[in-house]
Amino acid sequence: MGPDARPWRFDFAVADDAGGTPRHVQLARALVREIQRGRLAPGARLPGSRTLAASLKLNRKVVVAALDELVAQGWLEALPARGTQVAQSLPAMPVADAQPVRARGARGSTTNAVRFTLNDGIPDARLAPLDVIARAQRRALTTLGRSGLGYSDPAGDPVLREVLAHFVNQARGLACKPEHVLVTRGSQMALSLLALTLVERGDVVAVENPGYVPGWRAFEFAGASILHVPVDAQGLVVDVLEAKAKRLAGRLKAVYVTPHHQYPTTVPLSPERRMQLRALAEKLGFTIIEDDYDYEYHFDGTPLLPLSAAASSRRGTVYVASLSKLIAPAVRLGYIVADSALTARASAVREILDRQGDIVLERAIAELIEDGELQRHARRARQIYRERRDVMLTLLRSDPRLRSMLEVRPPAGGLAFWLSASETVDIRAWAQAAAARGVGLTPGSAHLASGNVRAFRAGFASLTPDELAVVVDLLGASLEETTPTATDRKSSHAPSRRSRRLAG
Ligand SMILES: Cc1ncc(COP(=O)(O)O)c(C=O)c1O
Repeated sequence: MGPDARPWRFDFAVADDAGGTPRHVQLARALVREIQRGRLAPGARLPGSRTLAASLKLNRKVVVAALDELVAQGWLEALPARGTQVAQSLPAMPVADAQPVRARGARGSTTNAVRFTLNDGIPDARLAPLDVIARAQRRALTTLGRSGLGYSDPAGDPVLREVLAHFVNQARGLACKPEHVLVTRGSQMALSLLALTLVERGDVVAVENPGYVPGWRAFEFAGASILHVPVDAQGLVVDVLEAKAKRLAGRLKAVYVTPHHQYPTTVPLSPERRMQLRALAEKLGFTIIEDDYDYEYHFDGTPLLPLSAAASSRRGTVYVASLSKLIAPAVRLGYIVADSALTARASAVREILDRQGDIVLERAIAELIEDGELQRHARRARQIYRERRDVMLTLLRSDPRLRSMLEVRPPAGGLAFWLSASETVDIRAWAQAAAARGVGLTPGSAHLASGNVRAFRAGFASLTPDELAVVVDLLGASLEETTPTATDRKSSHAPSRRSRRLAG
């Protein structure tokens, strides 16, 4: 192990009943898991093969084969005369796929295993500041001590509520106090709590269509009827909302919107529409539920402040946000900012469902915000995602098979593109062909109340530029396969050699 490396204890036992899986494959998989769990960070040096073999009581050849395999797959990098280290940029392959390259080749098939997913805009877990979070949680556990680990306020850790209030006031122009903040386990819980607090059977909740279906489900589950309102290049079409609301005889309880970057189309709600929506809310007395899921990721110009930032909006607007995009979806922490009466009622509902949140995580996050660590991570991540967005844009616009078939507009922010295809494109067939080539994409109709849309949401953030190049190439090849006119050059349908290499 290198002089700068921290000691790493690795318990590994060869299973005799591993279904005939060779020892070096078992070892390679175990090492991949160590890397994915973060116990071996990018750049960490591994002990030499001799040392590793002795400590694991394995033949050195087994260790060398496993290390070679992982170098070939991109998990490790060989350092001339200095052994191996964990690669700085890790492959996006799930553990279950960590099979030896040679064995896959021998079976002669690499199809049908989705290796890259154009998800709906998930951040790159490889960038998450895991060490920083782990250290903060350890400190929180110690600071809270045994007396702090009992039952506590269902509205969340009082320290975090205070820190969050300050944070959203400073960074997002809200004007709230700690008693306006309710900490949840993510936005989904926030939406469910709001639905259970605000909605009575027979009430109507209006939503954007296309929109965020898991949000719709929360309102439906609470007994609401859903009113679907179309979206155009300026976001929610408020005129249509107004026309439909007139026929509801006061039953419109809330409007659920994603004004910053509309989900899934990415368009910001225009300033005119914002004013129009606020005025309508005041006139008809409905609550605006503002889901601000990716505020940090605005790339061009200054982002518009949230709707909830308007001075007069304390009553009538509810703000929902989470750390799922800022850090990672598995860090279950979100929050609601609302007037104190609503916060108290939602907090009582939370107590019934879940008693309280994860106090250790909440205190750790409070510390990370106070120390500016979360903000530092946001700045770094924003820069990386801006680059990835630009790379994706260039790749899409320069691929002759794609550029004539897709309308490619760069999102001003957020972690996904909304790609609209021309009339000749069959998105479902394209998605199937892409899946056969190892690329997962979800047709945009998944975000619609009914019918079809010739578009899909393409998250770029969790893929490195190299991976994006492969994905776009495979997208081009699969589009060409399903839409013969997609190309202006009669080339082979096969992806490039570079793609084959990176796609495994
Ligand atoms: C519109 C929208 N809201 C909220 C979220 C985040 O949900 P949660 O905080 O429950 O992870 C997402 C995640 O994809 C989203 O797309």
